[in-house]
Amino acid sequence: MVETPSPKQVAGEAAAAHVQSGMILGLGTGSTVAFFLEALAARIQAEALEVCGVPTSLQTAEKAQQLGIPLTTLEKNPVLDLVVDGADEVDKHFRLIKGGGGALLREKIVAASAAEVLIIVGAGKMVKRLGTTFLLPVEIMPYGYLSTRDRVAKLGQCSPFVRITEAGEPFVTDNGNFILDCRFEEGIKNPEAMHATLSQIPGVAEVGLFLNLCHQVIEGGEDGEAILHQRKS
Ligand code: 5RP
Repeated sequence: MVETPSPKQVAGEAAAAHVQSGMILGLGTGSTVAFFLEALAARIQAEALEVCGVPTSLQTAEKAQQLGIPLTTLEKNPVLDLVVDGADEVDKHFRLIKGGGGALLREKIVAASAAEVLIIVGAGKMVKRLGTTFLLPVEIMPYGYLSTRDRVAKLGQCSPFVRITEAGEPFVTDNGNFILDCRFEEGIKNPEAMHATLSQIPGVAEVGLFLNLCHQVIEGGEDGEAILHQRKS
């Protein structure tokens, strides 16, 4: 019996079909992107596709290298044709919460460098309001991090928690920073205003709200079908 692939696999494999030879890619981070990388590597092998990618994390760089996907940097290729990345939540305006894997800062720099951003998600990530099913990750500097956390809490809109590893230490990003995971009891009512407010707090390096950065979403289904959502404006 042939097993139905998981929704994340469906989305990742569908995204690989969007890649054309000659493209400079942004390679996102996470378990859905891992499926994309495998499908991309298979196409590179089978079709002699000529592509190279800027990885958004050390984890992605390692996996791409293992799979034989050529890598490049934003210094060598400042303009990317297509970024393929995952997300933790997507709303109907194509606004995203990202950073579940802690790679939000590099992911946002890479997304902002691309002509096209394609987000790939499994089932259940399309939400009515951001912040209702997932905590909002905010990357902060280690220096004075508890003061930064308290300043975020003082806004009175969310409860921020320092992300902690299984070893009981603060989680450290590829940039040497920490992450605050912020709980909004009723979700984020105005993502643009919240992004602006959080970005102004000293010590905040990046906010996991991706606004006006996503052009298309591929949603993998439990039935093995991929749905392509395209942004109109
Ligand atoms: C990493 C991310 C990921 O893309 C996001 O957390 C989704 O991950 P997954 O595909 O494993 O569900 O933003 O910083």
